[in-house]
Amino acid sequence: MAMSNSLYLLCLLHLLPLTSVSGSFGTLEEKQTHIKLYFHEIISGPNETSFIVAGPNLTSHVFGDIVIFDNALREGPDPSSKLIGRAQGTSILASQTDQSVLTAINFVFTQGRINGSTIALFGRVSASDTTAERTVIGGNGLFRMARGYAISSVVNASTESYIIEFNFHLIHY
Ligand SMILES: *[C@@H]1O[C@H](CO)[C@@H](O)[C@H](O)[C@H]1NC(C)=O
Ligand SMILES: *[C@@H]1O[C@H](CO)[C@@H](O)[C@H](O)[C@H]1NC(C)=O
Ligand SMILES: *[C@@H]1O[C@H](CO)[C@@H](O)[C@H](O)[C@H]1NC(C)=O
Ligand SMILES: *[C@@H]1O[C@H](CO)[C@@H](O)[C@H](O)[C@H]1NC(C)=O
Repeated sequence: MAMSNSLYLLCLLHLLPLTSVSGSFGTLEEKQTHIKLYFHEIISGPNETSFIVAGPNLTSHVFGDIVIFDNALREGPDPSSKLIGRAQGTSILASQTDQSVLTAINFVFTQGRINGSTIALFGRVSASDTTAERTVIGGNGLFRMARGYAISSVVNASTESYIIEFNFHLIHY
């Protein structure tokens, strides 16, 4: 135990000179970016993109359900509009009183200048609100060091799919 503690301290000390270098980020210019896109989640049929993979009762949405999805990101609400990436993530039914969920999603872009860049989003979707605000906790590529928020609202819900508009407001380098 004592040995692992001192190893831990050694690692911390070793990291100290590195963290002091991080001040140089202050010279980089901050950018603001707004991105509007549509998330197409198919919940039934042959092209399903979203699945309940674990939970106390897989035939109904209850506290503890874990859903995994790999949804298309498109330019518009029309399912045939241009594909611009994937939303890969999980949602967990984390409320004991309603169907509010905790979500963690990587938005992975596959087109144009932002091909290969990602945005990481984390946050709660309340069962009773028509819009949700979630936190951008980071990004890669062009969105490195991103922070900000996304407002989402359902534009169409059916037994086959959910189409959700996302508006990202980002600050990044
Ligand atoms: C499923 O996807 C395939 C390939 O894109 C497409 O041809 C087919 O029409 C889709 N099926 C449904 C029910 O949307
Ligand atoms: C699971 O949910 C279904 C549909 O609501 C219900 O009929 C069933 O009794 C539930 N099973 C358990 C073990 O709670
Ligand atoms: C996106 O990047 C990947 C990996 O570099 C590449 O294979 C792909 O062709 C690119 N797609 C477009 C549409 O540029
Ligand atoms: C919503 O989705 C359903 C099923 O795909 C479709 O029939 C309907 O036209 C859509 N409504 C809107 C407003 O997009």
